[in-house]
Amino acid sequence: MSSSPASIPTHVAIIMDGNGRWAKQRGLPRIEGHRRGVETVRSIITASRELGIRYITLYAFSVENWKRPQAEVGALMGLLEYFLKKELAGLVKDKVRLLTIGRTQDLPETVRIHLQKAVEATAGFTGHTLVLALNYGARTEVVDAARAYAAAVASGQASLNDSSWESFSRHLYTAAIPDPDLVIRTSGEMRISNFLLLQAAYAEFVFTPVLWPDFTKEDLAAAVDVYARRERRFGQTSDQLKPAATS
Ligand code: IPE
Ligand code: IPE
Ligand code: MG
Repeated sequence: MSSSPASIPTHVAIIMDGNGRWAKQRGLPRIEGHRRGVETVRSIITASRELGIRYITLYAFSVENWKRPQAEVGALMGLLEYFLKKELAGLVKDKVRLLTIGRTQDLPETVRIHLQKAVEATAGFTGHTLVLALNYGARTEVVDAARAYAAAVASGQASLNDSSWESFSRHLYTAAIPDPDLVIRTSGEMRISNFLLLQAAYAEFVFTPVLWPDFTKEDLAAAVDVYARRERRFGQTSDQLKPAATS
């Protein structure tokens, strides 16, 4: 059963996990799993566009991932550069805007150059947005936002009398991006691993045992179907959400 357009999430965020295990199961080096993972990224970007999902965020590299062996980190950066170079034409053709979240200033210069180029070349598109979480960590995001907020208060652009979430969240990396409606994690792990902790406050979660290189368009559609059957209550009661009874 496919979802009706009304039940399509506006923003799907994905923790792409399991590349290493996919490779290990086949006696291949971990990097081979990452290579296959890039193929999945390509097909899932297309699939999300076809499903009518307006924002897709992909967790590609966490602040903690620097702790991996240097060779793996280097290979991941190389793949990221390769992806950006190769995909830019496709993003432009499909009118997909690219945004990033995370401390991208600390990525290698070659990656930064290609990122900037792709972000600038796609900045005018409004229909679909691909957000890459790169050198991202929710805790570092809070630290960066608190620093930006303090600077705004010091310069008089923000006031300490304003205690609203809206005025604080303006300083998060995601200021221009709606909160995720659906967070998917592949590979059977049931944890959030420092991903969008604040923005996912009311997200629905779908965990699947499928390893990221094996994740298909059908798996994405299935997760969206699960989402469509959930009742999002945002703190209210189920009865409150039903249309008022007419007498
Ligand atoms: C996800 O796959 C990719 C990144 C975190 C960059 P993993 O590399 O974490 O794969 P597993 O969890 O070891 O199987
Ligand atoms: C989360 O996966 C980060 C990304 C998918 C980029 P990890 O594989 O790094 O997470 P943990 O270490 O298993 O929690
Ligand atoms: Mg992992």
